[in-house]
Amino acid sequence: MGVFRIVVPLVTVLLICCSKQHSAVLYSSGFALLGYGATNWLIPRVGNSFIKIGLFGKDMSKPGRPVIPESVGAVSATVYLLIMLLCIPFMFYKYMVTTTSGGGHRDISILEPSEVPASFFPHDKLSEYLSSILCLESTILLGIADDLFDLRWRHKFFLPAVGAIPLLIVYYVDFGATHVLVPGFMQNWLKISTIDLGWLYYFYMVSMTIFCPNSINILAGINGLEVGQSIVLSILALINDGLYLTLGHSTTWENHRFSAILVLPFLWVSLALYNWNCWPAKVFVGDTYCYFAGMVFAVVGILGHFSKTMLMLFLPQILNFLYSVPQLFGLVPCPRHRLPRFNEKDGLLYPSRANLQETPAKAFFLPILKILHYFKLIELEFHEGRVVSCTNMTLINLVLVWLGPMREDKLCQAILQLQFAVGILAIVARHAMGKVLFGHDNLWTIE
Ligand code: UD1
Ligand code: MG
Repeated sequence: MGVFRIVVPLVTVLLICCSKQHSAVLYSSGFALLGYGATNWLIPRVGNSFIKIGLFGKDMSKPGRPVIPESVGAVSATVYLLIMLLCIPFMFYKYMVTTTSGGGHRDISILEPSEVPASFFPHDKLSEYLSSILCLESTILLGIADDLFDLRWRHKFFLPAVGAIPLLIVYYVDFGATHVLVPGFMQNWLKISTIDLGWLYYFYMVSMTIFCPNSINILAGINGLEVGQSIVLSILALINDGLYLTLGHSTTWENHRFSAILVLPFLWVSLALYNWNCWPAKVFVGDTYCYFAGMVFAVVGILGHFSKTMLMLFLPQILNFLYSVPQLFGLVPCPRHRLPRFNEKDGLLYPSRANLQETPAKAFFLPILKILHYFKLIELEFHEGRVVSCTNMTLINLVLVWLGPMREDKLCQAILQLQFAVGILAIVARHAMGKVLFGHDNLWTIE
């Protein structure tokens, strides 16, 4: 979608304006552009080195299945980390210089007492920022290990949660809120306005750090989709940030600036990757990128204090996961690859199928498969009255079941458009629902 090359700069400029030209957002945007240039320059130059060390994959949906570099998303991820580190002195310089006298006297202000900010150096902001980088670093390591050794599902599934520990500690110390609001119509009945979920809230946040990376990795298999969905999610997150930074209460600005500072460089390094991964792909992004991307959204949702809104933006990924559950949990056989089947004759993609003759589905699940087939949610193949195969349960295959065979780039566009439309509806619903359910929405009023 060439449209990204117009929309991404537009969103960046709008966000800079929305953030009232806040210096941190400006630095972040400047470094994001640098990251775009570096990533776009590096990818074609390092591709062959990836192939030399065995990091390559076959593009299953092209004639002759050409071999192209795999895990190239590691370049975007590395450039992102370097940018985030380079940004630190620029973002925090003013606190180190203008509010202290220098010469080692960090505690003596050269400002008038009335001008002295509440804290000389915002250690809390730096710790939030560093814990995010630490969490992303461990996630990238996990992704690289997965790309190199093809880790087993049960081994890699819980590892993102370990990487999230620094994040949760910072959340606990800095914010610590584990309360959720009770909907207005239930408040009179229950005689309470909030419920303290306690440790369950931490369980919820850990689940998010596991879900987001894995959910992007399983909505994959066609050129441009992994990175395309991440770009759409970033644009949606920035639109939400822009809304808060313009219409929102000033107490919400810090959180949404923090979100913008993390998402903007991610968006630009992803755009550079998309240039090389869009149809016809010259590189694959690899699991490193999928985990990294998912974790960026989990971190931003948690530390930006809008994890529930973030999950609403993940609705297509949530549906894809729920739809995949029968295959992920072994009720229906799950082949190593569930990406659509490429037909060399017409160059179109068709839904791929799981063979139920070799490995039958669990007997109790057969009637459910037939119901899903009846409602056109899957396509079953029958032979002499017996079910012999069913379409793989992914959103990608479902679009093909509904809309018929499609060319790979058109299919990717259809899913990205769906992601964008659902995301915009989710943002509207989030703010409309906030008003209906709780009597106010924190876009206008802070609880
Ligand atoms: C996940 C999916 C798997 C899907 C795969 C595609 C689940 C449980 N797993 O597995 O069904 O097939 O992603 O990425 O849903 N490839 C292409 N074209 C693309 C992208 C990938 O042909 O546009 C192929 C290439 O051969 C590439 C391979 O997929 O080498 C990458 O697969 P990998 O990311 O290792 O699969 P998983 O993430 O384990
Ligand atoms: Mg993958």
